[in-house]
Amino acid sequence: MRRAELLEEIVKRRLFYWPSAEIYGGVAGFYDYGPLGLAMRRNIVEKWRRTFVLPYQDVIVEVETPIVMPEPVFKASGHLDHFTDFVVACTKCGRRYRADHLVEEELAKRGVKISTEGMSAEELQRLINEHKIVCPACGGPLGGVERFNLLFKTTIGPYSENAGYLRPETAQGIFVAFPRLAEYVGRRHPFGVAQIGRVARNEISPRGGLIRLREFTQMEIELFFDPQNPKCPYFAEVENLEVPIVPEELVAKGQADPLVLTAREVVERGYANEWMAFFMALAAKFLKELGVPLERQKFLGKLPHERAHYSAKSYDQMVLTERFGWVEVSGHAYRTDYDLSGHGKLSGHEMTLERRLPAPKEVEVVRLYPNPGAVRERYGDKMGEVIKAMKENESVILEAFRSGRQVVVVGPYAVTRDMVFIKSERRKTDLEKFIPHVVEPSFGLDRIFYVLLESAVVEEEGRVYLRLPPDVAPVNVCILPIVKRQDYVEIGRRLVRRLAAAGFSVVYDDEGTIGSRYASCDEIGTPLAVTIDEKTPVDGTVTIRDRDTKRQVRVGIDEVAAFVDMVKRGASFSEAAEALKAAPV
Ligand code: GLY
Repeated sequence: MRRAELLEEIVKRRLFYWPSAEIYGGVAGFYDYGPLGLAMRRNIVEKWRRTFVLPYQDVIVEVETPIVMPEPVFKASGHLDHFTDFVVACTKCGRRYRADHLVEEELAKRGVKISTEGMSAEELQRLINEHKIVCPACGGPLGGVERFNLLFKTTIGPYSENAGYLRPETAQGIFVAFPRLAEYVGRRHPFGVAQIGRVARNEISPRGGLIRLREFTQMEIELFFDPQNPKCPYFAEVENLEVPIVPEELVAKGQADPLVLTAREVVERGYANEWMAFFMALAAKFLKELGVPLERQKFLGKLPHERAHYSAKSYDQMVLTERFGWVEVSGHAYRTDYDLSGHGKLSGHEMTLERRLPAPKEVEVVRLYPNPGAVRERYGDKMGEVIKAMKENESVILEAFRSGRQVVVVGPYAVTRDMVFIKSERRKTDLEKFIPHVVEPSFGLDRIFYVLLESAVVEEEGRVYLRLPPDVAPVNVCILPIVKRQDYVEIGRRLVRRLAAAGFSVVYDDEGTIGSRYASCDEIGTPLAVTIDEKTPVDGTVTIRDRDTKRQVRVGIDEVAAFVDMVKRGASFSEAAEALKAAPV
């Protein structure tokens, strides 16, 4: 636990993050991020966008939707019924525990190692009874195992009957906006929608710092495709990338070690379709670039009883940490048409796209035609607007009347059955409607942030620092006058402003010894430190020091921005020094 302990010390001292609302005792599962933590998180988000979204922007677009959503969303999505954990309460002190975690922990104390994943209430109850598990806090008897819904509930406006919920995943905002999004991309397919945002889950008893939060940030993509054509147009780019995978069939046999296959092999062996394998290969590369080698990663297949209610196939991308063992950092789910079908049925809106058939065929279509007389009688000179609204909402009105309703409200207008004619027609068409299927890669930013910090801890030659990849380090460069002399300070401050204006994150420090200032820059992972010394006012050069090797070179002050930029974009210190013809110190 050496790295984790060293990290904890840095995090506390440099205030990367801390428990939220501490002055009131804090609440488990909520954390604040300080300036360094926030800067690093933003950089991770940007790297995620550069990896998963920006290169594929002809297919993947981005949106932002609200955190609070109305009840029907989660009725249709299945979360009201299925998004639950099991809770068990002490009948003496009233403390409540997540039943599966309690059983695992109490049995582990007795040397029994079991996995409770996917267990039913009855199975957990049987284990509690069989092993005579009692309240770990007071020793009191436990009550029955019950379901607990993890959605945070609220009310929308001053109406107690108007229930709203904090979204437990960003995905639902995308699904409910599907008709608009499909329109935005011109109804072409495949297409994907990415969203980065906060979500909330009312975890029963969260522990594990940033690993189990009640409010956290997700980075998700819902990729909509025709199930008859699950081809990914970019697959050739990733087909040779390695994916450490434990497929379901091996999980079922109790195997924990992954097979290291190429993305192409993952598809050929039927472990995932091209879209899933594409995102898994990119996810492995993403974590590798963040400092987690493939040997500490695996994609763990989920057995049917372990999967989320919406998923027909799932892999959890797991990363081995020192403090928490294997931690899931992303989930890759094949959600089929589960969500779009659910929202389509409940809302009455059509959640379809069209595919072209090899040859035209005759189909029966049900069409709605306004009854002008009845519309005029009710709405007079508003008739034109009403007819337009009816046409725009044709599928909603048809679905409502089909299910027996007598009135449908579209915008400000009530449409009654007598205002429409419904006709069944036969038509020749070479287009066929289908509900798209969805592959979803879903990343937990907070977990990735923790994993990245822990992976970056280096202890060598008596110093401890974070070897963070330069594109995610919270600070790009430190500016350090070797001593606090007026002319050095002025040059230093001017350089800070120039670098800041060029978009870099810069720290200026002129207090204390140069050694302690280097150490302070290193421990927050700053890749480069610039010193202003006696030569600077004379010849306009500064030194640049490499965090990892402590090597220094001399460059002109005008070249510092280019140096910092090269390193931030992935060049090594030596490559940047060579490119800028820096002089050795
Ligand atoms: N959208 C997947 C998840 O939240 O787990």
